[in-house]
Amino acid sequence: MEQYIIKGGNPLVGEVDISGAKNAALGILAAAIMTDETVLIENLPDVKDINVMLEAMAGIGVKVERITRHAVMLNSSMIGGVSVDYEYIKKIRASYYLLGALLGKYKKAEVPLPGGCNIGSRPIDLHLKGFKALGAHVSIRNGSICAEADHLRASHIYLDTVSVGATINIMMAAAMAEGRTIIENCAREPHVVDVANFLNSMGANIKGAGTDVIRIRGVEKLHATEYSIIPDQIEAGTFMFAAAATKGDVMVKNVIPKHLEATSAKLLEIGCEVEEFDSAVRVVASKRLTCTNVKTLPYPGYPTDMQPQIGVALALASGTSIVTESIFENRFKYMDELARMGAVAKVEGNTAIITGVEKLTGARVSAPDLRAGAALVIAGLAAEGITVVDDIVYIQRGYENFDEKLRSLGAEIQKINSEKEAQKFRLLVG
Ligand code: UD1
Repeated sequence: MEQYIIKGGNPLVGEVDISGAKNAALGILAAAIMTDETVLIENLPDVKDINVMLEAMAGIGVKVERITRHAVMLNSSMIGGVSVDYEYIKKIRASYYLLGALLGKYKKAEVPLPGGCNIGSRPIDLHLKGFKALGAHVSIRNGSICAEADHLRASHIYLDTVSVGATINIMMAAAMAEGRTIIENCAREPHVVDVANFLNSMGANIKGAGTDVIRIRGVEKLHATEYSIIPDQIEAGTFMFAAAATKGDVMVKNVIPKHLEATSAKLLEIGCEVEEFDSAVRVVASKRLTCTNVKTLPYPGYPTDMQPQIGVALALASGTSIVTESIFENRFKYMDELARMGAVAKVEGNTAIITGVEKLTGARVSAPDLRAGAALVIAGLAAEGITVVDDIVYIQRGYENFDEKLRSLGAEIQKINSEKEAQKFRLLVG
């Protein structure tokens, strides 16, 4: 099992390039099957979730040609079935986007129910409610969601909860439905906008993405396109907090600063300098961070996917901070790991009360999920001594070359596979 071994204490300094957005890419790859013509997708991140999604698509007959590490050509004219294998959905929940895409194009889809996830219960009732409103018959058979319709008809859909997944899935299903669909109380995340822009580049007629009302006039056919995915705002935010926690100075490049506003605002609040450029953000932390309160909210609020990263920074800040998680109920598991590094925090329900300490000390910790795993790496980079992070497979799901990018900023971090490699690292760093 691979681990990261880290010798903490170096401020991160330098420039880092951000990859394409994983969560936008997952929706866009699924949407690409809605045309029989060839689609070129660029700025695709080379991370595990994306590679599994491509395998799932190849599994139903999509011709997948990886032209470069970050570009893929897809042709779906030979799709042989509308039934996705459980092996893939087990590995990435977001392969449920194939449900909306297949239903939209073929009026029929069969996708296994996604299993539980370690950040909390993640129902998909709203996705199904949307499909039903469009006229699909939805049933659960042998662990799979089966959705089918003779015709999909436009509808007026109100989402009870703001959901990224439901917004994207319903948008795809409605793109080729008869008439004009209106979705209200939509998610406004940048990746919702990116999937809408991608569909529009294939000839769809979607308006309002990025606001809470999306209007979709169904079209009969979608066509070929070439599209470049937006930068990953969560990867960018992770490096911004890594700079803050290590008292570093990092230029985070290839980003859309507008997408990072909630993160930048919190960094300013806790005492960092944040400088915005056209496509870069520089974070400088020259003094001890100060406490603040934060509550996760749908975009443009503070993202739940950035909660563990700010949690780690606040564990090192002066004073007591309150972090409230309002999207997923089980996102504080990393706090127990952080406590092993000397953090002082109390979790009560969806709230963590964190009293900052002067320093953390290295320990062996385990990544409970993707973002919490990245946050524990940040903790290791800021801590005194050696930290070993287990279960880094979670981190690899969503961060491209994480260790390599951190090393380019002066971090002492290695991916290791054995105790022998760990010893070698220890000898090397002294
Ligand atoms: C997406 C992101 C994930 C991020 C989350 C919130 C992808 C692949 N994943 O997940 O990284 O943490 O947005 O920004 O883009 N809900 C329901 N019923 C539903 C759907 C959702 O009650 O049918 C609830 C969820 O339990 C949660 C809230 O709505 O409390 C938001 O979830 P949602 O936005 O759907 O998250 P995902 O799309 O799964």
